[in-house]
Amino acid sequence: MRARRAPEAVTHAPTIESLLDEERSFPPPPAFREHALVRDEGVYEEAAADPEGFWSGLARELLWTRPWGKVLEWDPPHAKWFVGGRLNVSENCVGRHARGPRRDKPALVWEGEPGDERTLTYAELSREVNRMANALRSLGVRKGDRVAIYMPMVPEIAVAMLACAHVGAIHSVVFGGFSAQALASRIQDAGARLVVTADGGWRRGNVVPLKATVDEALASCPTVERVIVLRRTGKDVPMAPGRDAWWHDVVPQQPDHAQAEPMDAEDPLFTLYTSGTTGKPKGVLHTTGGYLTGVYATTKMVFDLKEDDVYFCTADCGWVTGHSYVVYGPLSNGATVVMYEGSPDFPDKARFWDLIQRRGVTIFYTAPTAIRQFMSWGEEWPRRHDLSSLRLLGTVGEPINPEAWTWYHRAIGGGRCPVVDTWWQTETGMIMITTLPGVDAARPGFAGRPFPGVEADVLDEEGKPVTSPHEGGYLVLRRPWPAMFRTLWNDDARYQSEYWSRFPGAYFPKDGAKRDRGYYMILGRVDDVIKVAGHRIGTMEVESALVSHPAVAEAAVIGKHDAIKGEAIVAYVIPRGGAQVSEQELRDHVVKALGAIARPERVIVTPDLPKTRSGKIMRRLLRDVAEGRPAGDATTLADPAVVERLRRSFGESP
Ligand code: WT7
Repeated sequence: MRARRAPEAVTHAPTIESLLDEERSFPPPPAFREHALVRDEGVYEEAAADPEGFWSGLARELLWTRPWGKVLEWDPPHAKWFVGGRLNVSENCVGRHARGPRRDKPALVWEGEPGDERTLTYAELSREVNRMANALRSLGVRKGDRVAIYMPMVPEIAVAMLACAHVGAIHSVVFGGFSAQALASRIQDAGARLVVTADGGWRRGNVVPLKATVDEALASCPTVERVIVLRRTGKDVPMAPGRDAWWHDVVPQQPDHAQAEPMDAEDPLFTLYTSGTTGKPKGVLHTTGGYLTGVYATTKMVFDLKEDDVYFCTADCGWVTGHSYVVYGPLSNGATVVMYEGSPDFPDKARFWDLIQRRGVTIFYTAPTAIRQFMSWGEEWPRRHDLSSLRLLGTVGEPINPEAWTWYHRAIGGGRCPVVDTWWQTETGMIMITTLPGVDAARPGFAGRPFPGVEADVLDEEGKPVTSPHEGGYLVLRRPWPAMFRTLWNDDARYQSEYWSRFPGAYFPKDGAKRDRGYYMILGRVDDVIKVAGHRIGTMEVESALVSHPAVAEAAVIGKHDAIKGEAIVAYVIPRGGAQVSEQELRDHVVKALGAIARPERVIVTPDLPKTRSGKIMRRLLRDVAEGRPAGDATTLADPAVVERLRRSFGESP
């Protein structure tokens, strides 16, 4: 596969270019450092000298029912971690805490968007997970079966995930913002037998009709035998007799104890679909022992997690951040996790700050998009609340511009909280590049250093390390790490070719990067994937959605720089001979195919696209037009006038 954008060309934000001159550095505040779990710089050297020893030391903090033999079996590009070991993820995240001194400690502190609240202690969460595990078994779910979860952010989504882990079923959580078609294709690819959903969820005062979407999807999903429906909104939904069952009819009466399935360290835990360069999403497969070790260790060390912390990660469980840093990482550590269902501006723009104040949140983890949104709403919203309980802030999902970083540090963190900028991916499962807040200084614009035991590099086109801090290159990871994905569901060939062939022997995450004194600056994707509000959207997926419209002959989709969302989707569409189609209709068509998260900001209907004489669409010029820049070199164009015509169409209001 060839990268579409050279790493030098992905720097949309002009600020990034000047970053290397950015000498601001924020060392750990002495008071923070003094109490930090990791204070000793030596951890990096120790882990580098003996990575397997480092990881197995952390794995030993988990509960295993059979010890492993070999720590790592590396048959590139396939890894096995903790070979022969047995453990159950639900037992590690819930059961063992419920049986010990944490039994009455709040595990999930949840707030619904309308203002309803629920707290589950570890003992209560354990009871719920065991009952749901029994319910799954009573409906025929067995080890290795796939279960799709399409739910709002309510405690039951975590219960459903953990119950799958309890019985050894492989869950596939699909974000509630995906459309029926997108849900159906994920269910079909995984071959799910059962779906867990809800009558709806609350978002900005409206009901998201999850059950209706499931009904539509299931018309084309013959593998699904049963559906469990949680009553959340109380709105009427049709129930298919023999197929659909209410959660409250099948779960509460179950026995409080269910035998946890003994799982091999390499048994699958979940698949999670993510966008790539083709029209077809990829089912990223994570397994049990290595994944749990990776998320357990990084949650503890990156967030400096202590017994009394109140931890709030704003991610939805539909994304990997929700898997690793709402559910599995924090719960395996026995933490108190705050969970919120809805929108940050409901009922007003201080919802998060109100929540932090009332719950005494100490660790807050969110996305740059959200931070830029808070900035644009104005500092008066956080200022009205007492945020002094906070002691650590984190960010994830896309590069954070130094302006947003410093605003976050000052307006939310009061200038006293370290900020960890965490780089990782659905595929890596765990945080890979960041700072350890009690050891490393943070440098705005830089994610930081490879986590202990992780080895990264920056390579040029030929695969040679880039040594100058002023040159960009391709980020790679050099050695296996426990939480790495093991393959793509049903597609090991794609796993090998997409990630491991560009630079032999190294994992290629498809991000550009620069490196300065051991610190990595992430420059963004170098493939046909764009990041819209931190979410990965494959431009090919949007293009295939567009060409599935009868009036569309050809489509080209690009990401345009957006001050809040990072990137916004812009589509250029050539209609079929003589066909009339409006921008709005095509936008709706994409939403129907993929979901609201992929709604293009603009769809430009145009008679032609800038192509080279050999017929290749010049996307760079499409980005120039969308971003209002003078077009770059257009000399290879078959028809140079096209760009001017596009510029005029772009200027016309939608
Ligand atoms: C892509 C992965 C990581 C969980 C949520 C997103 C970008 C992620 C950062 C960061 C710069 C980042 C990369 C990466 N990304 N974190 N701290 N700084 N870029 O997971 O949807 O799999 O996306 O997000 O481009 O490849 P994902």
